[in-house]
Amino acid sequence: MPKPPPQTILLFFSLYTFVTAATSASTVPTTLSLQFREAPEFYNSPECPSFNHGDTDTDDDNNMNKCSDNVVHVGMTLDAAYIRGSMAAVLSVLQHSSCPQDIIFHFVASASANASLLRATISASFPYLQFQLYRFDDGAVAGLISTSIRSALDCTLNYARSYLANILPLCVRKVVYLDSDIILVDDIAKLAATPLGDDSVLAAPEYCNANFTSYFTPTFWSNPSLSLTFANRKACYFNTGVMVIDLDRWRDGDYTTKIEEWMELQKRMRIYELGSLPPFLLVFAGNIAPVDHRWNQHGLGGDNFRGLCRDLHPGPGKV
Ligand SMILES: *[C@@H]1O[C@H](CO)[C@@H](O)[C@H](O)[C@H]1NC(C)=O
Ligand SMILES: *[C@@H]1O[C@H](CO)[C@@H](O)[C@H](O)[C@H]1NC(C)=O
Repeated sequence: MPKPPPQTILLFFSLYTFVTAATSASTVPTTLSLQFREAPEFYNSPECPSFNHGDTDTDDDNNMNKCSDNVVHVGMTLDAAYIRGSMAAVLSVLQHSSCPQDIIFHFVASASANASLLRATISASFPYLQFQLYRFDDGAVAGLISTSIRSALDCTLNYARSYLANILPLCVRKVVYLDSDIILVDDIAKLAATPLGDDSVLAAPEYCNANFTSYFTPTFWSNPSLSLTFANRKACYFNTGVMVIDLDRWRDGDYTTKIEEWMELQKRMRIYELGSLPPFLLVFAGNIAPVDHRWNQHGLGGDNFRGLCRDLHPGPGKV
């Protein structure tokens, strides 16, 4: 039976996948001069599997919501330099959701960021948004980061995606991680419902035609014990800008530690050139659940480094 024509679901520009927050400290404004319009309230459609949203302002309700498996938990980083992208991303998620009141955003900000300013900015534009803001202790990860070929990738907040299982409350069991430079044009609940199978920890669009070799250095491939990492895996490149993560499985497998171990090795011997992505490939490539490519139309930003510009995926696109 022929497959239905693909409809583009969402679009990305994703060399930025690694570049969540790149601006150097000296250029990050300490107060935001940007003002954003207030978004309207978005309402659930009658089909939503929702609970009572009438009185979410008590602590009990907030706690219930914060932990519910019936909502879509979205994880994003938040910082002053990229806040315009984040605002657009949040709005796009709400606009295209059938159940926008069943979405909780979990924003991760640098410990050095002005959290009250970030919180106030979000609240002013999205007065009805259910969200939490977490401080990411980036001092800890800073010591693990070795300089990449793109300085933008070295920002500590770029690594927050590796720590979501530690940062988010234990009761949050699944999260959709999104980079700050994305615009969704379909319902995030569909993405969140991606089956993870019996044992996948995360789901993401895979690119098995990408030259996997090029993501690691000759030092890596020429070291027998290191290159064995991929020996029994059908490892394909995947982009970490859009991921569905089973946080329970992540915590059970202590994958944060596994990623950190690769980062420690990278500090001693250079096994890759990019930032937060390669450790994900080392730990997960070949063992992830696939997501339709339309959920990450990446490459639109024009990744000119080594001519890695990507073609659009088939199907109509909307950015
Ligand atoms: C943080 O932002 C608030 C505005 O929301 C401002 O009043 C405060 O001075 C800022 N704090 C710092 C340390 O910059
Ligand atoms: C894949 O990348 C490696 C290292 O960058 C290169 O040596 C090799 O020729 C590439 N293979 C193909 C098929 O392009």
